[in-house]
Amino acid sequence: MCGIVGYVGPAQPSTRPLDVVLEGLARLEYRGYDSAGVAVVGPAGLQIAKKAGRLENLRSLLAENPLPDAVSAIGHTRWATHGGPTDINAHPHRSFDGRVAVVHNGIIENYPQLAAELAERGIAPVSQTDTEIAAHQLALEVAKDNDLLAAMCRLASRLEGSFTLVAVDRESPFEIVAARRNSPLVVGLGEGENFLGSDVAAFVGQTRHAMELGQDQVVRITPERVDVVNFAGEAAQGKPFEVDWDVNAAVKGGYDTFMDKEIHEAPHAVSETLRGRTTPEGNLKLDEMRIDEAILRSIDKIIVVACGTAAYAGHVAKYAIEHWCRIPVEVELAHEFRYRDPVVNEKTLVVAISQSGETMDTLMAIRHAREQGSKVLAIVNTHGSTIARESDAVLYTHAGPEVAVASTKAFIAQITATYLLGLYLAELRGNKYVDEVATYLEELGKMPHRIEQVLDHEDEVRALARSMKDATSVLFLGRHVGYPVAMEGALKLKELAYIHAEGFAAGELKHGPIALIEENLPVFVIVPTPRRPLLHAKVISNLQEVRARGARTIAIAEEGDTEAGGYADTVFWVPRTTPTLMMPLVTVVPLQIFASELAKAKGYDVDKPRNLAKSVTVE
Ligand code: F6R
Repeated sequence: MCGIVGYVGPAQPSTRPLDVVLEGLARLEYRGYDSAGVAVVGPAGLQIAKKAGRLENLRSLLAENPLPDAVSAIGHTRWATHGGPTDINAHPHRSFDGRVAVVHNGIIENYPQLAAELAERGIAPVSQTDTEIAAHQLALEVAKDNDLLAAMCRLASRLEGSFTLVAVDRESPFEIVAARRNSPLVVGLGEGENFLGSDVAAFVGQTRHAMELGQDQVVRITPERVDVVNFAGEAAQGKPFEVDWDVNAAVKGGYDTFMDKEIHEAPHAVSETLRGRTTPEGNLKLDEMRIDEAILRSIDKIIVVACGTAAYAGHVAKYAIEHWCRIPVEVELAHEFRYRDPVVNEKTLVVAISQSGETMDTLMAIRHAREQGSKVLAIVNTHGSTIARESDAVLYTHAGPEVAVASTKAFIAQITATYLLGLYLAELRGNKYVDEVATYLEELGKMPHRIEQVLDHEDEVRALARSMKDATSVLFLGRHVGYPVAMEGALKLKELAYIHAEGFAAGELKHGPIALIEENLPVFVIVPTPRRPLLHAKVISNLQEVRARGARTIAIAEEGDTEAGGYADTVFWVPRTTPTLMMPLVTVVPLQIFASELAKAKGYDVDKPRNLAKSVTVE
């Protein structure tokens, strides 16, 4: 969950190590923003500055008390797990002897035992964190042989839980050593300097050359070298790759917030996700589907595992994949999956959907699935992420970096990718002919333009949101693929505007939720196309039912739907999509804009809602 940056550079001490680390932290702040801290190492020894709250607080501290020039630095932006978000609990943590400093992401589960050992030696922690215990233990290890890499290997082998642990040593300023287990870490490869980061955003402004690290590996970076070993200290290999994210993609690009920028990037996210996946003749080609075709033909069930917004993308996918492929699709919240003893075997295809590729709940679910003999296909946005690495095949969404905590363009790209998967399976298994698949692809290809058409009307949505800033509760109703969209609309509003919001299947209304309807309660209704008369008529009835009970009704409806226009107080029009299954790609957009604007009207931080972090790397 936390963000980590490391830098080691030329022999001449300078401000560059600190500058690079602060720039990296600014890009990683979405991973956590309870506190931030840095440690620099140089001729003046090991110096630490850290502060509770946002990175600005640390910057103000550094402006008042500058750190000396250095040759290496590490930095951390925190999302608190053990110990509250205070100055003392902020990372880096210094060892009892002042020799090493560490930053950490994850949870060290056996820290009470390690702390008890330290207590026997009279070493008492000053913070409430598990990380500080690791700092003291590392100092004891490095004192044995003055070899930070070997010390880290010994320590990492003793740790239980998940961790990325990064350390600097006062006695060895030109090296940084880091270990990872179940927690992300990538290396940035420079010339005469090298970098570490929780993800490539940490150093994308400095270098495009990067290296993935495997599970249970330790890396040492110096200005000239990168050495990778396993926890036993044996030589191991990282996997080099090129970062294809544009550095500008990680900054706001003229929008008020990253979220607004990312909502506007949805058309591009869809076209990028489709790019390169059709032949010149317009047929589907998914080179990344590295699962044996015979296995894919034999599967009798698909289980989508994901959390939050990604799970709603899975719910949308269920409608399409079942319809196109005639395979039963279950959608399971990843954190529930392995605890209920699910029926999974070699005939099950597990599809993990994750923007970050680091969500621990989803990672644990796929590990469980693979242990049961299932093949796992990941639909992931972040290259080199753990879920991508641990799956049998990966279909990247290519939405570009998503910085705002609330997921927007990634959701739309996830739906697009699941549709590609559904069409691929339908063709492979003989449920659809090549030309039928090509027709769907052509329709998908039109979606970027259709999303742009919705964005053209964003001012109307924003005006409505501002007028509703005092609402205390909002309901969202949908049917068929509109149902997951309703749930997603509610989630966006909860997480950004801290308003009670619920998404219901419209048909469920009469079974209970209708009791919630009262005068002026805002109710959004995602209306299906009138070209599905039966479905449409049902939702129009629901719209009338809530309106008759005094609700303020807002419909998201297809252009030309006269009935929706007649029964709703406000209508946001979306262009006609064929088939109906494509509707979520446009109907969700007004809901994203609405939540963003309402949160702004209430004066909240849209990009960093309270209590949340972008990448949830703890269970
Ligand atoms: C909501 C949101 C979260 C994530 C969820 C899964 O806006 O962003 O619900 O969708 O935490 O995250 P990923 O997709 O990174 O696995």
